[in-house]
Amino acid sequence: MSTDGATTGALELIVIVVVVVVKIGIIVYVCNRRSNMRKDPYVEDSRFIPLTMVKFLDDMERERPIRFTSQQLRIATENFSILLGSGGFGTVYKGIFSNGTAVAVKVLNGTSDKRIEEQFMAEVSTMGRTHHFNLVRLYGFCFESSLRALVYEFMINGSLDYHLFKSKKGIVIGFEKLHEIALGTARGIAYLHEECPQRIVHYDIKPGNIHLDSKFCAKVADFGLAKLCNRDKTHITMTGGRGTPGYAAPELWLPLPVTHKCDVYSFGMLLFEIIGRRRNMDVTLGDSQQWFPIWAWRKYEKNQLNDLMIVCTIEEKDEEVAERMVKVALCCVQYRPETRPVMSIVVKMLEGALEVPEPFNPFSHLFPGGVSEGGDSLARIAWNVDGFCWSSSEVVTKSTVVTGTPLMRRYEITMASD
Ligand SMILES: Nc1ncnc2c1ncn2[C@@H]1O[C@H](COP(=O)(O)OP(=O)(O)O)[C@@H](O)[C@H]1O
Ligand SMILES: [Mg+2]
Repeated sequence: MSTDGATTGALELIVIVVVVVVKIGIIVYVCNRRSNMRKDPYVEDSRFIPLTMVKFLDDMERERPIRFTSQQLRIATENFSILLGSGGFGTVYKGIFSNGTAVAVKVLNGTSDKRIEEQFMAEVSTMGRTHHFNLVRLYGFCFESSLRALVYEFMINGSLDYHLFKSKKGIVIGFEKLHEIALGTARGIAYLHEECPQRIVHYDIKPGNIHLDSKFCAKVADFGLAKLCNRDKTHITMTGGRGTPGYAAPELWLPLPVTHKCDVYSFGMLLFEIIGRRRNMDVTLGDSQQWFPIWAWRKYEKNQLNDLMIVCTIEEKDEEVAERMVKVALCCVQYRPETRPVMSIVVKMLEGALEVPEPFNPFSHLFPGGVSEGGDSLARIAWNVDGFCWSSSEVVTKSTVVTGTPLMRRYEITMASD
């Protein structure tokens, strides 16, 4: 055998030995990890795997919810030092994991109760597996006696309310982009209602729950939260029932059956705010304009939408789309849930793929004795401020439903007559 042949043979042998040693090493490592994980109380339920950075990336890719420890979240959030804000369910902090992933950690109000741990995990599991381009992704959660938290993907451009109502601080979003945001939001809600395996009713659609990513694409946040937090009555922190005043459908604060159509109503109210780039209720404005939705209805009814285009500074090239948005908003805020369209139809109407039917007056129930011009008192009624409520039976008998065209029936669009 030549010297060359001997050298090649020796090299081959070394390579084989190295490969065998590495393989044995991997097998020993995997076995060790498995037996360690079996001892870990957090992984009794194989759906939830505690975090290591490698696993985190792996689970993210496989879209499985991750269970974090309070220690891991404390490190990621630098001891909860960067406050993003707080809402009805808890306080939100910014965090960054060592692999560079930015997250928003929502620390839920109340204490952890072992009795609800399983239900909590079941809900979070559903939320963590609900993926859509227009939904904020839930990476995982923490459930310990000292901390109950949800870990979301971080949305770099904040929420829509900031850009709509505080335009001096935020970037002014152009009309086309606003239309895209409205459409994205509608698609996200349509997915929750009609496409995901178990229907999810949001209950709290509002500009603060529409987050914007780096390209200003809309992502609906906080879906599934109302159910999660209502499960154990001791943890409810929302005041005055579900939803947020001004966006909450009448059936949420009247003794009427509640369905997914309450989200359609809230979406309609949100759409008005997108069109007007203002809060629907603004007491600083003149009486007739204080409550934007009814002002918009009056303009629509009198064929004077041009006034709305001027007030909302909508350019001529955008007027057609803006008019469509106004009509869709009016359809969505109909008083009776069954007269509101389903969200997939809202999507088609906003896209322009489906004609928007002429909406009926959504506010006729507010004027039992004829139309009033009193904007202020009207706004009070509509916003249910001062605890004002009207008799629901009176309202129902005043509003009769027309069945409309076959297309409207197919798509669950029916309109209440005046
Ligand atoms: N995933 C997220 N990325 C970035 N900011 C977020 C995220 N989730 C919540 N926030 C911010 O945290 C604040 C509080 O949110 P939240 O508790 O959901 O209250 P609300 O929905 O009532 O505004 C909001 O200002 C929101 O913009
Ligand atoms: Mg929120």
